[in-house]
Amino acid sequence: MRISKDVIEQIKNHLSIVDVVKLYIPVTKKGKDYWAVCPFHADKNPSMKLNVEDGLYYCFGCKASGNIFTFVMKMDNLTFVEALEKLARIAGVDIARETPEARRKLSREKEVLKLHKELNDAFVRNLRTIKNRETVRALDYIHERGFGDDVIESFSIGWSPNDPNYVRNFCKAKGYSESLFRDTGLFSEKGSSLLRGRITFPIMNKRGEVVGFSGRALDVDDYNPKYRNSRESIIYKKKYELYGFYQALPALKNKEVPVICEGNFDVIALHSAGIRSAVASCGTSFTNEHITELRRYNDHIKTFFDADEAGKIATIKAISMLLSHGFTPSVVEMPPQGAKDSAEMLQKDGKDALKAVLDKEIDYLDYAIKYYSSKNDLSTDRGKNNVYREMHPILDAIDSEIGKAEAIKKVCTKLGISTTSGINEYNRKVDEEMKRNAYRSRFETENEKMSALSLWKGTDEPFYETDLMKHLAFSRRTFSLSPEIRRIKYSSFTNPKAATIFSYLMENVKNGGSSDDEAYLDNDDVFLERIEDEEMKDYLSKIRGEAQIVEYQKWPEDRKRREIIEVTERLLCKALKKETRLMQRGIELGADTTMSVGAETIREKQLKEIEIKNLDEKMKK
Ligand code: CTP
Ligand code: MN
Repeated sequence: MRISKDVIEQIKNHLSIVDVVKLYIPVTKKGKDYWAVCPFHADKNPSMKLNVEDGLYYCFGCKASGNIFTFVMKMDNLTFVEALEKLARIAGVDIARETPEARRKLSREKEVLKLHKELNDAFVRNLRTIKNRETVRALDYIHERGFGDDVIESFSIGWSPNDPNYVRNFCKAKGYSESLFRDTGLFSEKGSSLLRGRITFPIMNKRGEVVGFSGRALDVDDYNPKYRNSRESIIYKKKYELYGFYQALPALKNKEVPVICEGNFDVIALHSAGIRSAVASCGTSFTNEHITELRRYNDHIKTFFDADEAGKIATIKAISMLLSHGFTPSVVEMPPQGAKDSAEMLQKDGKDALKAVLDKEIDYLDYAIKYYSSKNDLSTDRGKNNVYREMHPILDAIDSEIGKAEAIKKVCTKLGISTTSGINEYNRKVDEEMKRNAYRSRFETENEKMSALSLWKGTDEPFYETDLMKHLAFSRRTFSLSPEIRRIKYSSFTNPKAATIFSYLMENVKNGGSSDDEAYLDNDDVFLERIEDEEMKDYLSKIRGEAQIVEYQKWPEDRKRREIIEVTERLLCKALKKETRLMQRGIELGADTTMSVGAETIREKQLKEIEIKNLDEKMKK
């Protein structure tokens, strides 16, 4: 079997060398490096160094070295393909077997990449060596804004001539077919060049390959927007690419704190001033994918957005997002009455001033409190409460319980409200939101059935539990539609009645009980008949009532399957979280300090954590 490079890349993107080694043996962090006791020789002290950026391990004792795949191969005595399959499973990556179709796609991608490289070289040549009216004007413009030839070169800034046929003719002359053009993202839907008469900023992927361009006009008006960018193409997906990332890689690997900012010229201004870890999204907002990529290099990050209201709102939005990825963000602000963005600051105040601003980062909580306070009257209780409520998404996004508690305390203190009432308010809001979300997802298309909301009153049972019961009550196929369902245990449920019903059915299925789901569908009472307990009967009729409200019987198979899979994942995720908490306590109590048993528990816990992470991510989508 041939495995596409893409799959290998994807797995590597999901699992760092530390993630993988931790599945087997404890890993300790010393300074900025990770170390483990080498499992491949009789090692006493940790001699195996794990290099997260390169994804490699190296043992200073026995010289064993390799990547995540070789590590698993050796540990589990697997072939490469087996190790890959195992890691793909853990990472949640689909292994698409390489088909002729996939190969064709790959060769087309290569061709489009080559075209981009050639085109970029030509753009760069235009700006730097060809002297005519428009190129001289473009170069002057860039210089006037304070950018030197060093960054023009390192960012490969270029010029796309103001000739409607330039790009097309260039491609033709290089022998590319017309049919390839539509895969390049370089043309509008009508077929005109998006970059005509613009300064070009190549967007590079992490390997330094040009995958698209941003084009900056020299004359901006209603008909000529400031920027035109490549459209998405087979080689360019905006949610993955960050402008300046390739140039920032050495700094990121060197543990310099990533700085996210808003524009192309801002990135270049920051690099000019020596802040080489600056990146921007490419004319879109930051995505989870961008943040995940950056998170591989650091757990601290700075935002540096424009000084206007839009920039502030973007900052607030980014804070929650960064927190939920485990980042500790801090915010860099323009000095009051200063420049509007880094590019302008470079031009007006110079490199040193810009560099100095970057050192004046402020804590994300302080920033958010300040922002919301400016919109409310803090001398009133109402104003304070408003600010506190606005802070909720940020508090909610903090990904450790301890951190969250600390943050709540800090916000309360700053606002002068009691911590107890702050915590109560927070919990109330979480509850409310859960119910609202549950409600929204269930009745999105069935708005008129509002009355069903009453079913939620007075129960602590999470909605997905009830949902699973609904499927179980009507279709034994529930078990075959989601194989994962068998991993759910009695203890996974909140409601003991649900747990009992589930266990009963599960036993039945395991013992090869009737797989004839018609019995369920046709005869409502088959299920109820076997149950004596009055409370249980009540519970079941409630479930049935719900199923009727949503007309469950009419649902197409596909909808059922999707929901079954989703609720199964939610239940599993909750149960896994509970289990890891218990394990963590065991580990902390040091109940068993002998290496092997301890390591076994740690390993199991880590496997579960990775799975939780994957399930969480999936459910967010
Ligand atoms: N952008 C875009 N399309 C637009 C406007 C902006 O894609 N029509 C993107 C560009 O990547 C730009 C970034 O958003 O760099 C920031 O936009 P903005 O702050 O409006 O640009 P300026 O900072 O004024 O741009 P410049 O520095 O080029 O003058
Ligand atoms: Mn800007």
